[in-house]
Amino acid sequence: MMMMAQSLRGLLLASVVGIVSAQQISSSKGLVPATSKNVAPAAAVVPASAATDPFPWETIQLTPSVLSNLTSLNLTDISYFSFDSTSTVRRTVAGQPQCKLLPGDANWPSDTAWSVLNLLTGNALIKTVPLAASCYAGPNYDAAKCAYITANWNIPSLHVNDSSSAMWPIFEGLTCVPPSLRNNATSCTLGGFASYSVKVTNVAQIQLALNFARNLNLRLVVRNTGHDFNDKSIGAGALSLWTHNLKDIKFYSNFVATGYTGPAFKLGAGVETQDVYKAADTNGVTVVGGECHTVGLAGGYSAGGGHSPMAVSWGMGSDQVLALQVVLPSGLFVTVSATSNPELFWALRGGGGSTYGVVTSIIVKAHPKVTITTMTFTFGVGPTLSADTFWLGIRSFFKYFATFADAGSYSYFFIVPGPTGTTFILTPLWANNHTLSQTQALVAPWLAELAALNISVTPVFTEYSSFLAAYDGTFGATEQAGVWNNHAGSRLFPRENFVNGTKLNDTVAGVRYVIDAGGILVGYNIKPAINAGQDNAVNPAWRKTLSLFIVPALWDSQGSLQDAAAASEVLTNDWLAKWRALSPGAGSYMSEGDINEPDFQQSFYGTNYPRLYALKQQLDPHGLFYAPTAVGSEDWYITGQIPYLPTQNGRLCRV
Ligand SMILES: Cc1cc2nc3c(=O)[nH]c(=O)nc-3n(C[C@H](O)[C@H](O)[C@H](O)COP(=O)(O)OP(=O)(O)OC[C@H]3O[C@@H](n4cnc5c(N)ncnc54)[C@H](O)[C@@H]3O)c2cc1C
Ligand SMILES: *[C@@H]1O[C@H](CO)[C@@H](O)[C@H](O)[C@H]1NC(C)=O
Ligand SMILES: *[C@@H]1O[C@H](CO)[C@@H](O)[C@H](O)[C@H]1NC(C)=O
Ligand SMILES: *[C@@H]1O[C@H](CO)[C@@H](O)[C@H](O)[C@H]1NC(C)=O
Ligand SMILES: *[C@@H]1O[C@H](CO)[C@@H](O)[C@H](O)[C@H]1NC(C)=O
Ligand SMILES: *[C@@H]1O[C@H](CO)[C@@H](O)[C@H](O)[C@H]1NC(C)=O
Ligand SMILES: *[C@@H]1O[C@H](CO)[C@@H](O)[C@H](O)[C@H]1NC(C)=O
Ligand SMILES: *[C@@H]1O[C@H](CO)[C@@H](O)[C@H](O)[C@H]1NC(C)=O
Ligand SMILES: *[C@@H]1O[C@H](CO)[C@@H](O)[C@H](O)[C@H]1NC(C)=O
Repeated sequence: MMMMAQSLRGLLLASVVGIVSAQQISSSKGLVPATSKNVAPAAAVVPASAATDPFPWETIQLTPSVLSNLTSLNLTDISYFSFDSTSTVRRTVAGQPQCKLLPGDANWPSDTAWSVLNLLTGNALIKTVPLAASCYAGPNYDAAKCAYITANWNIPSLHVNDSSSAMWPIFEGLTCVPPSLRNNATSCTLGGFASYSVKVTNVAQIQLALNFARNLNLRLVVRNTGHDFNDKSIGAGALSLWTHNLKDIKFYSNFVATGYTGPAFKLGAGVETQDVYKAADTNGVTVVGGECHTVGLAGGYSAGGGHSPMAVSWGMGSDQVLALQVVLPSGLFVTVSATSNPELFWALRGGGGSTYGVVTSIIVKAHPKVTITTMTFTFGVGPTLSADTFWLGIRSFFKYFATFADAGSYSYFFIVPGPTGTTFILTPLWANNHTLSQTQALVAPWLAELAALNISVTPVFTEYSSFLAAYDGTFGATEQAGVWNNHAGSRLFPRENFVNGTKLNDTVAGVRYVIDAGGILVGYNIKPAINAGQDNAVNPAWRKTLSLFIVPALWDSQGSLQDAAAASEVLTNDWLAKWRALSPGAGSYMSEGDINEPDFQQSFYGTNYPRLYALKQQLDPHGLFYAPTAVGSEDWYITGQIPYLPTQNGRLCRV
């Protein structure tokens, strides 16, 4: 451990020395050159405790004694980095400021202050250059890079790999997208992107940047993959903590935690779903994760609930979490588990990301390998199938939601309007712990009903011996990112919507209404298992649901922001309003929900909201963490917004 620490420290020093020449630091002696003599690497190695089993980079921390050593150098700027309890800078900013700073403000940190942050973090500070800046005239112009970015714009990993990009640029403000994809635009500005990012590779960097942002009244964001539907990981003028590079994965064949003994993984905050699936397969186990390859399993996914084809067997993504390591809004680094900070443990499992601190790693349950059988087929309105009969076929499917989910299956499907008629695409029905013949028996009554309706289908069944095989066979790397012609909302329809004949018919009619108006249904038949004694902040609506229905508002990608706002208003006030009326008291999924969701507190958090809000006030009294629709976000607004198109391109102010 000590050897490791020495070499890490060496690395920090080397990078500090590498950038010093042009920099100066203000100190009691006036301006002094920023050299490694004047600014030591701001990190100490804190010994591992057996209970937390930290990754090596989690032992590299900012401690009060590191800060006091720096203070002995008389660097006035050092108080920028103080922990909340010891900060003096905060008092110089009058009370609780009404708004966070933006570049150009009088109190915006000087270049020197930014260079000190860069030095202390070991040259980890990145000044944002928007991903598509290479396409625009100016110092970043680079035709080859622009061509690459334009060609790959819809591939998630292009955005994941970048320090600041947003995968759903509409809520950034569309201020810098490849011009050939939008109206041959001629200007590229920072818009809703963060001003600076820290490329995080240890805990000390998080603490330094977080303290700096809090003490200097900067907006702070946490960005992992940038996958969030509502751009909760970006913000104008923000200092961003970019966690993508925290990639460690560690397997425990027999992990012991309160209420659990069995296999588990410890995952760094930047680990992506596809990485965990491979590690699980290698170790002969299965983990709960989503369909998208690049979603951050230890980031927003497990923080916000996390649905999965495996949820029907083992519960939600959040239900898998046994322990976390977290940097709190105060700057302190803590272990969170059933026995350490238990209230935060409850909240971090379902209460959403970017609210209570920065998670650096999580420990999640792993489960046995299972046999999985999938079934796929499509049918659609056409010369031999009327629209009314098509919808009777959909009704027949919905009627079996309870039967299928109770038996341990999950379905992922689309209903898509088209010029030749509406199409149903089942892709797939996924039966956990089911052989081919068990699955065929499960679906036989439904297939018989479709046949009786004269709906002709050609089901393709495939039996897989493991999750990874089923995943690879089902969810190819076809996800799209970077588009700005839609944004989605969702509804979790509970069991009664499918088992009560009147409600079933009304639910089918509610879906048909949206499709006939031009919407696309991204549907899931899903019933997450409820584990014995499970108590966390997952939206209670998930515990009663048989479905997640996602529907995007759609507009022309060459259209104006007003066009997008108009479509968004229809989504919120017409389409989703119908769905809310059909499922009173149910909810929506915060990670795939409408940014304009009315009463988002009830929809995304349900009865957990007051408890989550109380903890937010306690742990984050300065409002350091903000994200749209996150707990406590109703206390803030962003200036200069078009109604129904709330971007992150504006100043963040208190209500
Ligand atoms: C193509 C696609 C497919 C998807 N499929 C699924 C699915 O199958 N199942 C499902 O449940 N969801 C799915 N989602 C939704 C996904 O779970 C959310 O978008 C999730 O928030 C992504 O988390 P992230 O860390 O990758 O993204 P980011 O956008 O980087 O982060 C999301 C939020 O979490 C915060 N955050 C991230 N890391 C941390 C951290 N270490 N500490 C504190 N806060 C943090 C961010 O600040 C932000 O508020 C999908 C999304 C997309 C775009
Ligand atoms: C602080 O400085 C002293 C004297 O140089 C040194 O011995 C000690 O290790 C330093 N502490 C930290 C945490 O860096
Ligand atoms: C810092 O300032 C104090 C008093 O202001 C002085 O006694 C001390 O020598 C200074 N230390 C350094 C390293 O300059
Ligand atoms: C993103 O980075 C990964 C790993 O370096 C690489 O394999 C992938 O091709 C990159 N994506 C794009 C679109 O460049
Ligand atoms: C951009 O300009 C070219 C040349 O005038 C034109 O062919 C193309 O359609 C334009 N693209 C967009 C997205 O407006
Ligand atoms: C799979 O099903 C069998 C019974 O058919 C059951 O005993 C076993 O617990 C199930 N396994 C899982 C992982 O659900
Ligand atoms: C199905 O087709 C058969 C033969 O064409 C016809 O007799 C029957 O009425 C049809 N059934 C329905 C429900 O349309
Ligand atoms: C079914 O739903 C209808 C409409 O909401 C309701 O009036 C009726 O009481 C429900 N039936 C049962 C058995 O719950
Ligand atoms: C629901 O719709 C089906 C198909 O149209 C119909 O046969 C049935 O009577 C309806 N049920 C109720 C309770 O309205």
